[in-house]
Amino acid sequence: MSGQEDTGGTRSVGYHGGSVETVISVDEVNRQAAAIAEAGVEAGRIAGLADGEPYLKIDNLRAGYGKMEILHDFNLQVGRGQSLCLIGPNGAGKSTVLHSIFGFTNIFGGSIEVQGRDVTALSPKDKLRSAGVAYILQDKSVFPGMTVEENLWMGGYLMDKPAKAKAKAEEIFSKYTRLAERRSHPAKVLSGGERRLLEISRALVMEPDVLLVDEPSIGLEPRFIDMVFEILDDLQHAEGKTIVMVEQNAKKGLEFADIGYVLVSGQLAMAGPGDELLADPEVGRLFLGG
Ligand SMILES: Nc1ncnc2c1ncn2[C@@H]1O[C@H](COP(=O)(O)OP(=O)(O)O)[C@@H](O)[C@H]1O
Ligand SMILES: [Mg+2]
Repeated sequence: MSGQEDTGGTRSVGYHGGSVETVISVDEVNRQAAAIAEAGVEAGRIAGLADGEPYLKIDNLRAGYGKMEILHDFNLQVGRGQSLCLIGPNGAGKSTVLHSIFGFTNIFGGSIEVQGRDVTALSPKDKLRSAGVAYILQDKSVFPGMTVEENLWMGGYLMDKPAKAKAKAEEIFSKYTRLAERRSHPAKVLSGGERRLLEISRALVMEPDVLLVDEPSIGLEPRFIDMVFEILDDLQHAEGKTIVMVEQNAKKGLEFADIGYVLVSGQLAMAGPGDELLADPEVGRLFLGG
């Protein structure tokens, strides 16, 4: 144990679980991040990061739960086939951004557009069915007693013909042999990594263009974390999906994504190319534990 004990403060585990030697306390991260957020991000910066016409565009969004506003004048733009990762302290509202895009929050102001079409008021069902936006549910969202195959078919529950979902499932099985080999097994026997793969695959049954992914690495062993990021990389670069993700593992998330946003207290604090944010000393100090 080092001199940390002498500061008189509570021994705190830093952001993202780094060691006390290298990482500042959660409260201090929040305080310093809030100071950065004061400056905000210019509108031109946000548009400049998106490649071409934005495929997904959020303007001055105010949204939250019940009457409580969590996101304040939030803006986002991502081009077709690009990836964007949101990082920031716990409780900043990162998941709320994804919830708002998919239609799980109350929206008090602002707009959300997909391909130039206003989808702000669409229900989650219609986001999936008609706007091509899928939210990847995770953690206990697979049906443990159902087989892998049945779980996959469930992803097509909004399709008019079950045969269509089954055909798409076959396509997915031919791509992910790991799942195909286990198609008749109950989902409960899958490893954590395989379960995450099933969760992602299930969302693909509806053939979405935009994938909303909340903390893909959470709860996974390191070797599965790499596997999940490889799958997402393939979905973006080989299949042209647009990806908006939240990642607590800021290093992985920013390495992966074309665009990085730092969200603090429901407001955009920083925005830049993923690799630029990754190299930013302030981001490093606050979110990367070094
Ligand atoms: N379903 C909910 N109902 C009410 N408040 C919520 C709900 N989900 C999140 N919140 C609140 O919204 C704020 C932002 O949460 P969240 O978006 O989950 O943060 P993050 O993903 O950045 O950790 C928090 O204060 C949280 O308590
Ligand atoms: Mg969250």
